[in-house]
Amino acid sequence: MTTVVAIDGPAASGKSTTARLAARRLGFIHLDTGAMYRAVTIACREKRLPPKESSEIADLLASLDVRFQASGGGRQRTLLNGRNVTEAIRSPEVTRQVSAYSALAMVRERMVRLQRQIGAEHDVVCEGRDIGTRVFPDARFKFYLVADLEVRARRRREELRAQGLNLSMRHIVEELRQRDREDSTRELSPLQKAEDAVTVDTTDLTIPAQVDFIVTLVKAAQKQEDRKDIKKGEANSA
Ligand code: CDP
Repeated sequence: MTTVVAIDGPAASGKSTTARLAARRLGFIHLDTGAMYRAVTIACREKRLPPKESSEIADLLASLDVRFQASGGGRQRTLLNGRNVTEAIRSPEVTRQVSAYSALAMVRERMVRLQRQIGAEHDVVCEGRDIGTRVFPDARFKFYLVADLEVRARRRREELRAQGLNLSMRHIVEELRQRDREDSTRELSPLQKAEDAVTVDTTDLTIPAQVDFIVTLVKAAQKQEDRKDIKKGEANSA
């Protein structure tokens, strides 16, 4: 059986960086489900399909190919039908519309199926909004990342600056608030902490500290299980 580490939380709470680095240290695959919903958003926008259930979106989903490709240093590219969309999926236009497309039942069904398939074949650190509640409710490890809105906005502003975009704090705070509202109030798989998830408040944590917290917990549990297996083996051969 594969091991799933589920990481959920609101926008810019540190999921992506934490998941990427934790996956690298554990030797697991990093499954960025937000990147998948963002890729779907690009595909729909390019065909000028509005965020409403339609046979056109159903057709698009049927032939859609979203995959990840290693690009060195534990980073990965997102490929949409073979095309590199790694940067395009982070554009403010996609960010503004992704919640509307990801609220559609047909989109979620297709993405969740893909995510479960990957998780059944590989050990994964999977991040998103509904990983511990819906995609992998039986995940061995579940974390829920939170951080103050101000701190999240500052992080997002730095990310955008690195892409050459200068947006005001007010604009970013409003965008995060709006997206969190849409993600937590939608009917299907809203953003929610799984009852058995461990909350990690990253407001005052450094990235290495939050990665360490997760990796240490996973490794300690794995070691304990290994010990149990050895004991079982010894008992069987006695
Ligand atoms: O990086 P950031 O926190 O801004 O967002 P993301 O993780 O890339 O997710 C982008 C959007 O995709 C979210 O705002 C959700 O609307 C949607 N999403 C979702 O519905 N379910 C998931 N498992 C992951 C993302």
